[in-house]
Amino acid sequence: MLTLLYKVVRPLLFHLDPEEAHELVMGTLPFARWLAALAPLRPDPALACRVGPLTFAGPVGLAAGLDKDGVGIRTWEALGFGAIEVGTVTGHAQKGNPRPRLFRLKEQRALINRMGFNNEGAIALAANLQRLRDTGHWPKVPVGANLGKSKVIGNDEAVLDYLNSLRALKDRADYFVINVSSPNTPGLRDLQEREPLQRLLEAAVPEAGRTPVFLKLAPDLEDDALAEAVNVAVESGCGGIIATNTTLSRPGETARAEQYGGLSGEPLKPLARQKIRVALQAAAGRVPVIGVGGVSSADDVRELLKMGCAATQLYTALIYEGPGLVARIHRDLLLPGG
Ligand SMILES: Cc1cc2nc3c(=O)[nH]c(=O)nc-3n(C[C@H](O)[C@H](O)[C@H](O)COP(=O)(O)O)c2cc1C
Repeated sequence: MLTLLYKVVRPLLFHLDPEEAHELVMGTLPFARWLAALAPLRPDPALACRVGPLTFAGPVGLAAGLDKDGVGIRTWEALGFGAIEVGTVTGHAQKGNPRPRLFRLKEQRALINRMGFNNEGAIALAANLQRLRDTGHWPKVPVGANLGKSKVIGNDEAVLDYLNSLRALKDRADYFVINVSSPNTPGLRDLQEREPLQRLLEAAVPEAGRTPVFLKLAPDLEDDALAEAVNVAVESGCGGIIATNTTLSRPGETARAEQYGGLSGEPLKPLARQKIRVALQAAAGRVPVIGVGGVSSADDVRELLKMGCAATQLYTALIYEGPGLVARIHRDLLLPGG
């Protein structure tokens, strides 16, 4: 039903500028929530998976970036996501980079974005999360808050900026993600190096209290650097790894596409798989790894789970396949042989 509906709506949305289409869809979320609530698409309990101390309702979660300010959480739950990651939010509200900053690569089922963490800030997200709690609408699936560095803050003050966000959101999210891997904030990815990373995580983990802190890494790290970052995360008490963010590389047919920004979707898949494997090896079972990058089918999810991932996330495939995708993947996972 949702898939059929999206077959009609998608060509109309794809006629619009990608960010206008995004804004239009986000504006319909309260309405979509009522529709979805008529027949909520909760994953079968057999699909629940442990991710450290958390239980994801199913192995497909919403990746960060789609709902930066946490305005559509009940809709994502109704669409069947096993967990929902909101953000990236920053300590300071910020507008992000000038438009255009989001590009479709239709043939390749990919996106390139250089949004630059446009968001209302950690305090606004905290208010949105608190409202869900106060009204008894907190979802039955874990909600993670993904945190980044404000653009106006230099790397030398980054720790304080992340801590400000953590303090604003403390006890309001089920898990936190320290995002040092988005390509669109100058200098951010330098925080993936051992020393600054250690300083950041050793401050963030205690500040989060009992709430697990995950670290999200870039696929453009060399294998050694990625393994090193995973080790720092484990040593600093992180509860898990999310691999991977978007890539600055332009593999295969994306070579002539928009040069500035992070690539996601189908063409990211081979690189993400390879880096997820490195992350799994480095983690060596000490912390769970959530696999992200080009996930669009039950086969993709099966492959990542077989490799050893505790769960997966997706974003770009939702834009191409529509709101029925997550429930379809979860259903397909239950088919014989799944
Ligand atoms: C438009 C867009 C915005 C994104 N914004 C964020 C973000 O704010 N924080 C983050 O950690 N990842 C962000 N991502 C990365 C995704 O969470 C995910 O790691 C990446 O897109 C790979 O997954 P996919 O191929 O399923 O899209 C963004 C991705 C896209 C396409």
